[in-house]
Amino acid sequence: MFQLEFFPRTELKSLLDFQRLETLPLSLNDKKLLISEPDFFHSPKANDVIRRMHSDYIDKILGFRLKYIEEMLIAEAHGFDPEGSHESWGPTIHEGIQTWVGLDLQTLQTPYSEILRILQLLKVKPYQHVVDLGAAYGRMGVVLGGLYIKTFFTGYEYVKTRVDEGNRIYKDLGFTTCKLMTQDLFAKDFELPQADIYFIYDYGQVEHIDHTLKQISAVAMKRPVRVVVRGKFTKQIIASNHSWLELKYEGKLEELFSIYTAYIV
Ligand SMILES: C[S@@+](CC[C@H](N)C(=O)[O-])C[C@H]1O[C@@H](n2cnc3c(N)ncnc32)[C@H](O)[C@@H]1O
Repeated sequence: MFQLEFFPRTELKSLLDFQRLETLPLSLNDKKLLISEPDFFHSPKANDVIRRMHSDYIDKILGFRLKYIEEMLIAEAHGFDPEGSHESWGPTIHEGIQTWVGLDLQTLQTPYSEILRILQLLKVKPYQHVVDLGAAYGRMGVVLGGLYIKTFFTGYEYVKTRVDEGNRIYKDLGFTTCKLMTQDLFAKDFELPQADIYFIYDYGQVEHIDHTLKQISAVAMKRPVRVVVRGKFTKQIIASNHSWLELKYEGKLEELFSIYTAYIV
């Protein structure tokens, strides 16, 4: 049983509990209490459909305006390319960059429950720096800001409206160690900051991901790094071009991520 400000008997066990929370007029304090509770990010069931629904409820409970923002992007892209789809719309309006405009929102982003599992496996510590490369609305920052309040998070994302919305939620929730930045990761002048953990979920084209992995290898010559990879393209690129990364954990069944380590000496 979980104690919220105005709703003392709150449970976080079934999807119905989350559905109920979404309908309640929660105070900001209630939201802060919820995100500081690991069970809030834990999916009631470990299957993909439930995990996506659970994440969808969390987005709504926290007040993300995802549907509105994505519909604005689709409307803009549709104007240029009425016959297009999520494969073509992003590149059409974002200078050839694959921003996945029109892709289902729960496919675009990693479920909160999977992010929780990743962070628990990594045993993230205070003052470490976690970087999400292609962060969308910054879900990883939400979990870190709620549960790992002394860990720093930077999420880079090309689409400014996604960045602004994520930062709005971070500000509402009072996060001081998490931020999203509008950035083209493939830009010539972009310098990857040093970090302890990098997260990549198939953010763009093959040459972009390859470029980012080369930047991470430069960091790994100075300090140990861990790289969390979600999505088959990045794993294939690592297998064929980046043997400096050592596979430490490979998710099975519903866990779609792998964890690599590197310290090039
Ligand atoms: C599949 S989503 C992953 C989102 C987030 N990392 C997660 O797992 O929840 C990839 C994101 O990378 C962004 N992206 C693609 N190319 C990019 C680039 N060149 N620079 C910055 N972001 C990019 C896309 O707009 C998209 O929001």
